[in-house]
Amino acid sequence: MKLLKISKFIGLVAISMLGLAGCGLGGESAAKENATKVSAPAQVHEDAKDVQIGQFDIDHDRVRLNSGYDMPLVGIGTWAISDSEAEESVYTALASGMRLIDTAVVYGNERGVGRGIKRSGVPREEIFITTKLWTPDYEDAEHSIDRCLERLGTTYIDLLLLHYPAANDEKAYQAMERVVKAGKVRSIGLSNFFREDFDRILKMAEIPPAVDQMETHLHHQNVELKKYLDSCGTVLESWFPLGGRGQTEMMFNEPVVQKLAKEHGKSPAQIILRWHLQAGHVVMPGSTNAAHIKENYEIFDFSLTEDEMQELSRLERNALYGGY
Ligand SMILES: NC(=O)c1ccc[n+]([C@@H]2O[C@H](COP(=O)([O-])OP(=O)(O)OC[C@H]3O[C@@H](n4cnc5c(N)ncnc54)[C@H](OP(=O)(O)O)[C@@H]3O)[C@@H](O)[C@H]2O)c1
Repeated sequence: MKLLKISKFIGLVAISMLGLAGCGLGGESAAKENATKVSAPAQVHEDAKDVQIGQFDIDHDRVRLNSGYDMPLVGIGTWAISDSEAEESVYTALASGMRLIDTAVVYGNERGVGRGIKRSGVPREEIFITTKLWTPDYEDAEHSIDRCLERLGTTYIDLLLLHYPAANDEKAYQAMERVVKAGKVRSIGLSNFFREDFDRILKMAEIPPAVDQMETHLHHQNVELKKYLDSCGTVLESWFPLGGRGQTEMMFNEPVVQKLAKEHGKSPAQIILRWHLQAGHVVMPGSTNAAHIKENYEIFDFSLTEDEMQELSRLERNALYGGY
């Protein structure tokens, strides 16, 4: 992968081109205020210098973040799987071509993720690791980040998120900003921050959140939140992309999903994941099944028409399955 260092100036120009009119403080002042907030140095693909922040490049499996770094669009999730399962899943995902890995302190499997990466032989710079600080970590976030690095066996984290809004989250966000400057973390963001909490962080942030990871699937599509995040230059990442453990069969058995799977010669999971991509959500389905992991990355050789996207979008039920 050819990489090119670009200057802070290019990052600033890119974010100011976004026109953050609907975001945070609102209007022109928001655009000015946010434009001055991007300070991370950036490494970007040489052939993608003109790409706008938040614009999905499905053909190349990447989206440009507000940090200037590119994030893959499809990866492996590791919630509710053991350390040794995480090692296997990450190893299989990397062997299948996926380059995005999602873990968290509270999953207790960062060491397994690190072992899977090491075993894969894939160069570190090709891999995008996301981890999340758990709420008790917020009190002394810098120390917790050092422990994440040690468990993952890496010198930097690609994307670090605050897992939930909680006491000391603003203090922890400021600590994340400091570690970006120290080079230990490349991009920072949030998870489970609905609009009000998202705005609270945005207002105090020097570096606006690159990503908000939220429960997002056919039955809860987050259309309004997505529009708002777009206006802030923040990428929406979906957790429970297949509905989550226990709900996947219900999702796969939706008649329209079944129909489209037959018509495209794809599995129901592939139809749903492709819908996410075209709707502009980064996805990292969880799996310990090698065939499923491989299948989940085979979604770049077909596309859904606008009518098919709309048929799927009509499955919205405003139903959350994660219990928050
Ligand atoms: N930020 C947060 O608060 C938060 C919360 C929850 C999750 N997450 C992240 O989001 C990731 C995704 O969520 P999730 O794993 O909970 O739910 P999910 O991806 O919606 O669903 C996972 C389930 O789907 C099955 N599955 C995966 N691919 C399949 C395929 N091709 N065909 C059939 N079944 C398939 C898996 O079973 P098999 O193992 O049998 O494939 C597993 O039971 C998590 O792993 C985690 O990294 C974040």
